[in-house]
Amino acid sequence: MGAGALAPAAALDYLDAMGSSSFAAPAKLLVRPISSRFAECLRSDANIAIDVDRARTQHRGYVEALERLGLVVESVEADDDAPDACFLEDTAVVMDARSLATMPGAPARRREVEPVTRAVRRLTHVTDVIEMQLPATLDGGDVLRVGEHLFVGLSSRTNAAGAAALELAAKGSGIRVVRLTVRDGLHLKSACTLASAGLLVYDARVLGDEELACFLGIGLRVMPAPEAAGANVLALGGAVLVSLAAPKTAELLRAEGLDVHVVDVGEMHKADGALTCLSLRIPRAGCWST
Ligand code: GLY
Repeated sequence: MGAGALAPAAALDYLDAMGSSSFAAPAKLLVRPISSRFAECLRSDANIAIDVDRARTQHRGYVEALERLGLVVESVEADDDAPDACFLEDTAVVMDARSLATMPGAPARRREVEPVTRAVRRLTHVTDVIEMQLPATLDGGDVLRVGEHLFVGLSSRTNAAGAAALELAAKGSGIRVVRLTVRDGLHLKSACTLASAGLLVYDARVLGDEELACFLGIGLRVMPAPEAAGANVLALGGAVLVSLAAPKTAELLRAEGLDVHVVDVGEMHKADGALTCLSLRIPRAGCWST
């Protein structure tokens, strides 16, 4: 184990916790171009200026990093009138052949769902799309897949009815929904993500003992990320993307033996976005992706 990672005190059999399917790089990732109105995107600090051209360059770098790993990337049609459209992870939760089309918590983002739903139907093996209805709201950034578990963060965007709708959508799939509270920041995955099938990185300022116990309880190891931007990494089979803004996290993950790829998403961080938000991962049949 690398320095800084905690192991579960009484480890469950990790394979039991993961269920019968195995962790693998996704069959495909969907991405969505940066809107020409990206500078108008929702963000906690509207005074921070966003450079749309630089964001486009960084988005290309993100896609190229995925393609260098041999992954298949396809683009959903652009929508220049949807400033946050590049963060398409928020609009769908894909579970095997079933997908939930979400109801984003921010009304301004709800127009983003329909084009992504169409692309999911057209470009993937998903056959069953379930549509969420108000008053339920949920952003995909609040949903973390870990084996046969979906951790859902109750946040400023995702409400209790949204978590219940996710649970209903997962019914019969063998996937268990576990609710957590997001005390600070935008989404659950702003505060924690998987670096590999067995290792969670997290922001210690947001996640406390109660939340960590849920992850330790299914046999994950947990590691505090030295930088806030290090809590959102993107695990793709044996490789992991880490933000350029998190060099110490990258170093710790290299020490874990992971194949770390550093990507500059600085303009997306200004928009409260990060690595996972920029793609929708479509798992391989019989496998899970995060
Ligand atoms: N800018 C990402 C969001 O607020 O949804």
